[in-house]
Amino acid sequence: MENLETRGISLPRLGLGTFRMQGDVCRAAVESALGLGYRHIDTAEMYGNEDAIGAAIAASHVARKDLHVTTKVWHENLAPDAIRRAFDASLKKLKLDHVDLYLVHWPSKSMKLPAVFETLMKLNQEGRTRAIGVANFNLALLKTVVEEIKAPIACNQIEYHVMLDQTRVAKYLAAKSIPLVAYCPLAQGRAASDATLMAIGRKHGASAAQVALKWLLDQERRARKASRPISMR
Ligand SMILES: NC(=O)c1ccc[n+]([C@@H]2O[C@H](COP(=O)([O-])OP(=O)(O)OC[C@H]3O[C@@H](n4cnc5c(N)ncnc54)[C@H](OP(=O)(O)O)[C@@H]3O)[C@@H](O)[C@H]2O)c1
Repeated sequence: MENLETRGISLPRLGLGTFRMQGDVCRAAVESALGLGYRHIDTAEMYGNEDAIGAAIAASHVARKDLHVTTKVWHENLAPDAIRRAFDASLKKLKLDHVDLYLVHWPSKSMKLPAVFETLMKLNQEGRTRAIGVANFNLALLKTVVEEIKAPIACNQIEYHVMLDQTRVAKYLAAKSIPLVAYCPLAQGRAASDATLMAIGRKHGASAAQVALKWLLDQERRARKASRPISMR
């Protein structure tokens, strides 16, 4: 599968999201995905499923170096000592000695961004997360992180799909060569039954869900083409 290179990590462009999956259902889904060839698993402390994912990874025969694991710290845990505690708990549940990407899951009104990123960078320097990033950051927050704090973020994970325009944030990220990681790629299921996407799919022997995913993958390609033509594959 094609990968994105960002801040020293190689991120498979299609990943498995695990929100709302827990216990044995989650473990079975992750085991199945790894068997199908997925190498990018996305979780969060808030999902309450890191233990199930850890069990699935441990049971798989995928080498750790071939696997990308993202987890996230919840917005209630953004004080430096709380980040550390949350991170230690995540690693323990995942049964890993490092994750590939550690994200701030949501911004909070009370967070002190310099202290947040100082803590994340320490985890990075300790080799416990290979890269750091953010999720659900708007343009103003992104500018603070990138231009004032100068934190080396590897992505902004936001809701983005064929039914939601994110042009302003996407353009900013492309200009800074920071990948946009799209969540809810199927608009929480709406795209899978959309009449227009179904009609497009019929022309190509594909489902509406496949059309929605292909649209997203093509958006990213265009963004990269505009900003870094030399890196086009
Ligand atoms: N960073 C964040 O704040 C954040 C927030 C939300 C999500 N996320 C990430 O993004 C991932 C995906 O988001 P999501 O699950 O909310 O939305 P989604 O991927 O857009 O939609 C998933 C929904 O689509 C339905 N669906 C219908 N047809 C489908 C098909 N052919 N293939 C797959 N699903 C189909 C699924 O139904 P079934 O339930 O029947 O499978 C499920 O309810 C999450 O798991 C999470 O990792 C991140």
